[in-house]
Amino acid sequence: PRLRPLVAGNWKMHGLREALPEIAKTCAAAAGGGAGEAELVICPPATLIMAAAAICEGSPVAIGGQDCHSAPSGPFTGDISAEMLKDAGASYVILGHSERRSGHNEGDESVREKACAAFRAGLTAIVCVGETKAEREAGEALPTVGAQLTGSIPNSSASEGLVIAYEPVWAIGTGLTPTPHDIAEMHRFIRARINDHLPGQGDKIRILYGGSVKPDNAAELMAVDDVDGFLVGGGSLTFKDFMAIAGVY
Ligand code: G3H
Repeated sequence: PRLRPLVAGNWKMHGLREALPEIAKTCAAAAGGGAGEAELVICPPATLIMAAAAICEGSPVAIGGQDCHSAPSGPFTGDISAEMLKDAGASYVILGHSERRSGHNEGDESVREKACAAFRAGLTAIVCVGETKAEREAGEALPTVGAQLTGSIPNSSASEGLVIAYEPVWAIGTGLTPTPHDIAEMHRFIRARINDHLPGQGDKIRILYGGSVKPDNAAELMAVDDVDGFLVGGGSLTFKDFMAIAGVY
């Protein structure tokens, strides 16, 4: 059976309080059935999580963080723990996004520790993987993503607590997307890898596609085999685009 799709919006470092009405409108549209069968998550910047969670309370829209520290608390200036995200009203957290892997030097081991922290706090982890343009051109997309997956997913993962997002680095914010054939090949590969790593779970864990998902390509992308939803960046910043994307479900 098909998994319930998940459409997650990653606001990245965008959004002042004046953007909160976009979340309220998303909640209202989702409550009215605008997202079809899809589950919706919005991951705003940390400064907006408490307010966003208050807005979404009782609605079908969940809130997530964009990163967390692996420790529950401690002398880590500027960091936020998984417990703090949970306390602020989040139920998801994005981990290992390529912008954290490249801009903050995060490796697979760090991502794995953060995923353990997310499980400890009762958050669902959206673990991101994806190859660079050079890796794809060298024919190394599958082994690169395979190694990231094996390194980033804790052995203790349960299907309810884990979502994988495949985001080719070269497709993020560029308007470029892989062909449906290449996305299907990668998602099939990821599912098989998860099954090797976590026996029996591969068919239960949602695998999202991310990278330049827009209202005008969402319908084509959602129809690709093994795509269980999207991780949306720029297209999640306005209620109008985000609901147009989620609405394909
Ligand atoms: O987390 C989201 C991705 O990085 C995709 O970003 O939709 O702006 O290409 P984008």
